[in-house]
This record gives sequence, structure tokens and C-alpha cells, in this order.
Amino acid sequence: MSVAPPRGSVAVLTGAGISAESGLSTFRGAGGLWEGHRVEEVAHPSAWARDPVTVWRFYEARRVQAAACAPNKGHLGLARLERRLGGRFTLATQNVDGLHGQAGSANVLELHGSLWRVRCTACGREEENRTVPLPVLPPRCAACGGLQRPAIVWFGEVLPEDVFTAAMEAASRCALFLIVGTSAVVQPAASLAVIAADGGAQVWEINPDETPATGVCDRIWRAPAGEVMDDVVEEAIRWVSGAGSR
Ligand code: OAD
Repeated sequence: MSVAPPRGSVAVLTGAGISAESGLSTFRGAGGLWEGHRVEEVAHPSAWARDPVTVWRFYEARRVQAAACAPNKGHLGLARLERRLGGRFTLATQNVDGLHGQAGSANVLELHGSLWRVRCTACGREEENRTVPLPVLPPRCAACGGLQRPAIVWFGEVLPEDVFTAAMEAASRCALFLIVGTSAVVQPAASLAVIAADGGAQVWEINPDETPATGVCDRIWRAPAGEVMDDVVEEAIRWVSGAGSR
């Protein structure tokens, strides 16, 4: 059972944009991952049923790319904010690259799973796998020999319930919600900003571009996250410790 965060807390939703300055491709826009791939061919249960090797080649390329990247000032700033606020901080990410953890964030709600976990499609056993490159695609389960898939939430699949519930509780109770580097078009993650706004939180967006979430935002930084995160972190601390907090 998840424990609701206390009042005066900060909740954060991040997306691929926060990792862009680390050198990772975003999904949408020019040069985005979905420009070169049809989602249904790589990130959908039907793709897996049809051609697991093609699916794995796509995720293997993501693993190789992510393994060569380091967290940037955006990730590091959020890790610092967590250390300052302790239990009054929740970070939910749509990213599967693991860079928040590498930056020092201790508690990360990985809404869409992780590139670094695999799950057996036969026995359901899930495990960490950080071997890059993988010697054989698809990898096989050591317990039963079944094919392992990336432990990633594909289109048409449901988010892990406990993880999304914890993110929703944090969004609905926080004083301040930061939405960072996401196009805010994929549900249910994008709904967290609306849940926060409906709950009376301040909502701040960091994104060079306007998004569907912009309409519920009280403050906006139209800039790359790494360039402004230090300032946003200081302002967030002032906000939750000041009169504006609840
Ligand atoms: P998108 O690629 O849809 O959006 C990336 C966002 O980051 C855009 O709004 C950019 O304007 C913004 N951006 C780019 N560079 C930035 C920077 N340096 N700082 C801040 N923002 C920047 O990525 P997501 O919103 O994360 O799901 O996509 C959501 C989900 O769609 C992903 O988790 C993935 C994808 O399909 C799955 O694969 C299940």
C-alpha cells in the first residue's frame, strides 16, 4: 500500500526532453524516435507477437545509446531537490533510460518501465539486465528458457497500478507540480498535471515548446531543462517553504 506524501510537497513528471541534453533522442518532433519507426512495429504487443527480434533490435539500440549517456543538470537538479525535501518529494518519469537514478534520485516512479529490466513472457519472472550489448536477441529466461521482453509499458498496455497510484496521490496532494520535458500527449501520464491543478497545486512547466499541459500551468520556462533547473529548484524550495505553500 502506498503512503500519500505530506502537505507542502513537490511532485514532478518528466519526459524524454529532460534526457535530450544527455544526448538521447526524444520520441516526437524532428529527429524523434517515432519519426523513423512506426510505434506499432516496435512498441506494441502486436509487434512482439509478430517479430520479437525487430522489437529487441529497437530496444537494444536504445540501451546502447543510454549506456553511453550521463545525467545532465536537469536530472542532477531534481536529485538535489529530493535530498532537500526528503519525503516531501515525488518524482514520476515516463523515461525508461535510468538517468534519474544515475543522477542520484533515490525514489523514481518509472511509469513506463525500464530499459534495464527484462520480463519472461513464459513464466513472468522479471530481472535486471544491464549487459550491453546483449549477446543474443531476444534474451532467454535463466529459470524456464522462455523469451524475455523489455519490461516496458507498450502502447495498449496498462501502467503498473501501484506505480501510477503513487504518482496520482502525489499529484493530487502536492503544493507544487513540475512538468518537465514532456509533450504531455501520452495518457495517463499527462493527466497528472491536470490532477495536480484540480487539487489546487501550482503547476510549473519546463519545455522549450508549448504543450497541451501549458493551459493548466501557472509558470513556464521556455528553455532546455538543463539550463534552468538550478533556478527552478531554488524557486521550488522557496515556494514550498513560503506563504504560497499549503
Ligand atoms: P516526447 O518526445 O513526446 O516529448 C519530448 C518533449 O521534450 C517535447 O515537448 C520537447 O519540446 C521537449 N524538450 C526537448 N528538449 C528539451 C529540453 N532540453 N528540456 C526540456 N524539454 C525538452 O517525449 P515524452 O513526452 O516523454 O512511451 O513521450 C511520452 C511517451 O511517449 C514516452 O514515454 C514513450 C513515447 O511513446 C513509450 O514508449 C511507452
